Amino acid sequence: MAIERGNFSTRIGFILAAAGSAVGLGNIWKFPFEVGEGGGAAFVVMYLAFCFILCFPVLVAEIAIGRKTQKNAVGAFAALGFKNWSVIGYLGLVSGVLILSFYNVVAAWAFGYFVEMVTGNFGIGNEFGEFTSDWITVGLYSIIFMSATAFIVAKGVSGGIERAAKILMPTLFVMILCLIVYALTLPNAFDGVKFYLVPDFSKITGDVVYSALGQAFFSLSLGMGALITYGSYVSKNDNIVKSAAQITLVDVGVAVLAGFMIFPLVFSQGIQTDGGPGLIFVTLPGVFESLGSMLGVVVGSLFFLLLSFAALTSTISLLEVPTAYMVDEHKIKRSKATWIVALIIFAAGVPSMLSYGAVESLGQFVKLPGIENPLPFLDFVGLIANDTFLPLGGFLISVFTAYIWKKENFNAELASGDSSIKGSWLQTYVDIAISYICPVILGIIFLVTVLDNFLGIKILSLILG
Ligand code: TRP
Repeated sequence: MAIERGNFSTRIGFILAAAGSAVGLGNIWKFPFEVGEGGGAAFVVMYLAFCFILCFPVLVAEIAIGRKTQKNAVGAFAALGFKNWSVIGYLGLVSGVLILSFYNVVAAWAFGYFVEMVTGNFGIGNEFGEFTSDWITVGLYSIIFMSATAFIVAKGVSGGIERAAKILMPTLFVMILCLIVYALTLPNAFDGVKFYLVPDFSKITGDVVYSALGQAFFSLSLGMGALITYGSYVSKNDNIVKSAAQITLVDVGVAVLAGFMIFPLVFSQGIQTDGGPGLIFVTLPGVFESLGSMLGVVVGSLFFLLLSFAALTSTISLLEVPTAYMVDEHKIKRSKATWIVALIIFAAGVPSMLSYGAVESLGQFVKLPGIENPLPFLDFVGLIANDTFLPLGGFLISVFTAYIWKKENFNAELASGDSSIKGSWLQTYVDIAISYICPVILGIIFLVTVLDNFLGIKILSLILG
C-alpha cells in the first residue's frame, strides 16, 4: 500500500517538499502587504508569536496524523476509527480548492511579470491594474500555471514534487539575500527597516490579530490537511517534531527576509505601505530598472521566475490534497484524478481572475458588515478560506488530536520514529499546547473573527480599545 501511494525518499526530501509547500506567494507576496496594511512591526510580532506558539504544535499534529494513518486528509480520520471527524478533512478539501482557485491567479501574475521582465518592460510596475485587467493574458498564464502544477502532481510524490523543491528553493533564498543587500544601500531604506522592526502596539486591532493568524496558517500551509497528506508519505523513522520545527523556521525565515527586501524599497521609492495585493508588483520593477537595462533584465526576470517556482511548489501541495483524496477514497487513477481536479479548480478561479479590473462588479463583490470597503471576489475567497476556514481547521485538528485520538496515541506516534523526543522540552511544549493553548486561543479567535467580519460585532477592538 505504502509503495503504491509513493513515499518521500529521504528525510531532507520531505523537509524540502514541506518547506516548498510553505514557502510561496504567502511569504513574498502576501506577508509584506499584510505587514504594510497591519501597521508594520506590530503585525510582525503577532505573526511570529502565532507561528511559534499556536501553529507549530498543529503542524506536528497534522504530520503525525498523516504518518500514523498513511492516508489522505479525509481518510486519515476514518483510519484512526473516527469516521465522523472526517468532516475536518472535507473542510480541508473545500479550503484547498478555494485557496488554489485564487492562488493560481496570483501565481499567473507573477509568471506574467517574469515575461514582462524578460522583454525589459519595467514600466509594468506603474501599470499593475492594467496588467491584471487584461483577462486574456492573465487567463493564458493561469492555464499554463495550473497545467504545470497538474503535470507534476500527476507524476507522483518523489519523482515530481521532491525533485523540483530541492533545486529551486535554495536559489530563491540566495536571490532574496542579494536583493536585501542592494535595497539597504538605497536612500531612506532605514525608514523602511524602522517601520518593519519597531512595533507601535497601539496599531494592534481586531483586524490585525486575525489577519496575522490567518497569515501564519496560510504561510505554513496549515489547517486543511496538506500536511496530513504530505505526512502520509513520511518515513516511520523520522523525528516529526524536529522536522516540523525546521519547516517552521525556514518558512518564517523567508517571510521575515522578504520584509527586509520590500520595506526599504517601499520607503526609498516613497510608496504607500498599505498598497494591498499590488505591493510587490508595484515596487519591484522600478528597482530592477535602476540596475540598468542589462542587469535589470537578468535580475528582474530571474526574480519573478523563482517566485513562480516558489508558487509552483505551493500549488503542488494544494492540488495534492484533493488528488490524494480521489486516489485513496474513490480509487481513481492518479493522472486522471489530477487533471479532473485541476480543471474544476481552474474554473472556480475564473471569478477571482476577473475581479482585478476585468469585471467591475466582481471587483467590489461584497460588502461585509465588519469590513470597511467592499471586497473584490479574490479577496473575499481569501477571507473565507484563508482567514476563517484555516484557523477553524487548526482548532478542530488540535481538539481532535488531544481529546479524540488522545494524547497518549499522539505522543506514541511522535516517539515511534525517534525515541529521544520523549520528555524533551519541545515535546512537552507540543503536549501542553495541543491540549490547552491551541484549542482555547484558536477557538476564541475563530468566534471573534466570525462575529467581527460577518456580523460587524467588534469584540476584540472593544477590548483593545
Ligand atoms: N503556504 C503557501 C504560501 O505561503 C500556500 C499554501 C500551499 C497553502 N499549500 C497550502 C496554504 C495549504 C494553506 C494550506 O504561499
